[in-house]
Amino acid sequence: MAISQAQFDLAKADPKLANIVYHDWEAESYDDKWSISYDQRCVDYARNCFDHVVPRESQGSDLAGSRVVELGSGTGFFLLNLMQSGIGGSGIVTDLSSGMVSVAVRNGKNLGLDVTGLVADAELLPFVDSSVDLVVGHAVLHHVPDLDALFAEVNRVLRPGGRFVFCGEPTQKGDLVARALSRLTWWTSTRVTQLPLLVDKWARPAHELAESSREAALEAVVDVHTFDPNQLARVALRNGCVDVSTVTQELTASWFGWPVRTFESSVKAGALGFGWANFAFGTWKKLDSLDRNVFSKIVPDRYFYNVCITGVAP
Ligand SMILES: C[S@@+](CC[C@H](N)C(=O)[O-])C[C@H]1O[C@@H](n2cnc3c(N)ncnc32)[C@H](O)[C@@H]1O
Repeated sequence: MAISQAQFDLAKADPKLANIVYHDWEAESYDDKWSISYDQRCVDYARNCFDHVVPRESQGSDLAGSRVVELGSGTGFFLLNLMQSGIGGSGIVTDLSSGMVSVAVRNGKNLGLDVTGLVADAELLPFVDSSVDLVVGHAVLHHVPDLDALFAEVNRVLRPGGRFVFCGEPTQKGDLVARALSRLTWWTSTRVTQLPLLVDKWARPAHELAESSREAALEAVVDVHTFDPNQLARVALRNGCVDVSTVTQELTASWFGWPVRTFESSVKAGALGFGWANFAFGTWKKLDSLDRNVFSKIVPDRYFYNVCITGVAP
């Protein structure tokens, strides 16, 4: 969906409006852009994130039938894949962007899951007190201006003992490195693909690159925070949540993954093919395993790219 110049100018001055405009704009192409799927690859990815922050032995036996709400669901990547892995009997996908909610509900129905959708601001949730068993989210906290309001709402809607799990949030240091690598990749790739020998097969058409620059300008507005894991935990604690803990993920995997994603979006659609996709995912998986099994034991957690947080309503 294209956006008008007037919408674009208004959105650049207001992070919440920017989130609506940008994510409505992206909704129909979002799964393709981020290689999101609802098969075993992404089911395993979502469940591994969840299990990394809440180890299986601490999950309890009642997760399977629980009422789960996702905040900032986008197209449903996290909740729909968690449900397929056995978490949640019924799910409610919520998002500020109505375009995203429509796609998430459609994805859920296509998978045969018990899923409904609501357009909702994570700072003001449309649920009565103590009515939800589990709140989840992936890559949403860094878009929400008032995190105190969000955690107060999460605490309010969860039943006593109910849990929240948020994954995929950028750390301050991880984000600095990822953005620097991505900028360098974009700069190099958009120049190399203009070389006469490569331009026909590899270069993205100029109008697509211009559209990408507009997207990047709004992306800079929708990304409100990066996190220090301890400071993030303190926000949840001061809003009444208990048993709060954080873990981080992806060090070398993010140094590889961000440039790869940037490279993919800088070249002509279809130029890379299936062999590239296999190589990229296979290498990312190996690096992720190296990060979990080796670097997580020796590198301070603030250097990893993703922070995940969990806690419980008292
Ligand atoms: C980076 S996307 C992540 C989507 C999805 N969770 C995923 O991991 O693929 C962030 C989502 O959060 C939504 N969002 C941003 N601000 C929000 C807010 N205040 N309340 C609810 N959703 C919000 C956006 O519309 C967008 O769909």
